[in-house]
Amino acid sequence: MKQDTILVFDFGGQYAHLISRRIRENNVYSEIVPNTTTLSEIENIQRRVNVKGIILSGGPSSIYEKNAPKLDKGVLYSPIPVLGICYGLQLIAYSVNGEVTPAKKKEYGISFATIKHAKGILKGLHRREQIWMSHGDSVYSVPDNFEVLASTENCPVAAFMDRQNEIYGIQWHPEVVHTKNGARVISNFIFDICGCKPTWKVVGMLDRYVDEVKRQVGKDKAVVALSGGLDSSTAATIASKALGRNLTAVFVDHGLLRGGEPKQVKVLGKKLGINFVYVDASRRFMEALKGVTDPEQKRKIIGREFIRVFEETAKRYNAKYLVQGTIYPDRIESGQTKNSKVIKTHHNVGGIPSVIKFKGIVEPLRELYKDEVRKIAKQLKLPKEIVYRQPFPGPGLAVRIVGDITERKVEIVRNADNIVRAEIIGRGLDKGMWQYFAVLTDTKSTGVKGDSRSYGSVIAIRAVESTDAMTASFSRIPYEALETISTRITNEIPEVVRVVYDITNKPPSTIEWE
Ligand code: XMP
Repeated sequence: MKQDTILVFDFGGQYAHLISRRIRENNVYSEIVPNTTTLSEIENIQRRVNVKGIILSGGPSSIYEKNAPKLDKGVLYSPIPVLGICYGLQLIAYSVNGEVTPAKKKEYGISFATIKHAKGILKGLHRREQIWMSHGDSVYSVPDNFEVLASTENCPVAAFMDRQNEIYGIQWHPEVVHTKNGARVISNFIFDICGCKPTWKVVGMLDRYVDEVKRQVGKDKAVVALSGGLDSSTAATIASKALGRNLTAVFVDHGLLRGGEPKQVKVLGKKLGINFVYVDASRRFMEALKGVTDPEQKRKIIGREFIRVFEETAKRYNAKYLVQGTIYPDRIESGQTKNSKVIKTHHNVGGIPSVIKFKGIVEPLRELYKDEVRKIAKQLKLPKEIVYRQPFPGPGLAVRIVGDITERKVEIVRNADNIVRAEIIGRGLDKGMWQYFAVLTDTKSTGVKGDSRSYGSVIAIRAVESTDAMTASFSRIPYEALETISTRITNEIPEVVRVVYDITNKPPSTIEWE
């Protein structure tokens, strides 16, 4: 049975993601597509899924900018209902010759809307609603066949509907939690207007993922990159269900792992019951990274070496395909979707060299967010320590050493990380945390150790809370725990004279330092 689906047209930034997540939370499947998607491309997508609605996301552009993203008119007037959010609303107004101009006053943050007609997307809303907006342009008028449903102080047309066609627009962001009844707007659109049935559940997708791997790889053999983390362990288990003995899990030790990790992954390989090989490639990685300081360069080198090691290992096992645990945000942050900008090249996406010796790369989790992968992992009955393990980036400690990498620096950051983990887990503080780790900065600082001046390194502690790594806030670790961590690090690691705590959220920061 084809899934009822809402396509989210991506006009930039993270809005498209948030919208897509909100739809999935309603058990309706949603995919993000580029804003340039045409009607005939939608017809192609219809072969796989049942496209019942289209949402045009917000985005950073102004409609009058030279290269402002536009929309195929055929899409707007197709029989599929369309909802434009923020930039999406302005774009619709512009396309139908409405008046869109810079707002007299830009509206940013929490505001209030007056609901004139609580119908269509606004069904069930109160006369006055708390909303969240962020816009520079406003719509001042729309043609007669449009009905204005809401306004704000600076925005006379804050929501509208086209009486003849199923076209809707809303200036504020229903996908953002600060909009009080945002969830109602989304469910009005997907259920009442588009008629979707809430039948999609990520756990119900497992068989499809297994089948997809089977279909892609066919009778060939494959290797799966197993790091021991949640994503790769889940991908490996799915691939193993699909391919059985034709699959070999490869664990590459690049010398940039956390303390005790190689041993743990070997045990995991046995537990999962799949063919497993351990490749010690630490020398090769350290050689390739010698003297490299630029973080993007580090990631690219690691990505390249990873693939080369896999190719060599695959050759030994006559494997033609590479299976990876890439998830949706990895692709977005690597700039793989049209309007997203490169934030970091995740080693397993943008870091992949353009010429690879595999017939294909198989990524069964490529459309999923971390919390969705976790649900699948639970369904697969993966060990608890995997399901709840904190994420660890593929390039490992390389992106937690600011500046060039040496073996001693790796040891320092590994020892500091051991201390952070032990103290956080020992106090049960890990439960609410997404990640907690140490970073070796390239700052030198003066300290005093044993009555004499000591000029040494600075370690930064990072601990964050998040649900999907797209946004994060720093954890409020009790001072007492921070003090013990700091004392232990400066006592146990001779080179370190200072420990600092990172109190930035994402955005504007990212979780990892590099
Ligand atoms: P940032 O630092 O971008 O990280 O906020 C978001 C999440 O992704 C992890 N991360 C990576 N994972 N390869 C990975 O497999 C990478 O190159 C990479 N870079 C960051 C990071 O630990 C966090 O969970």
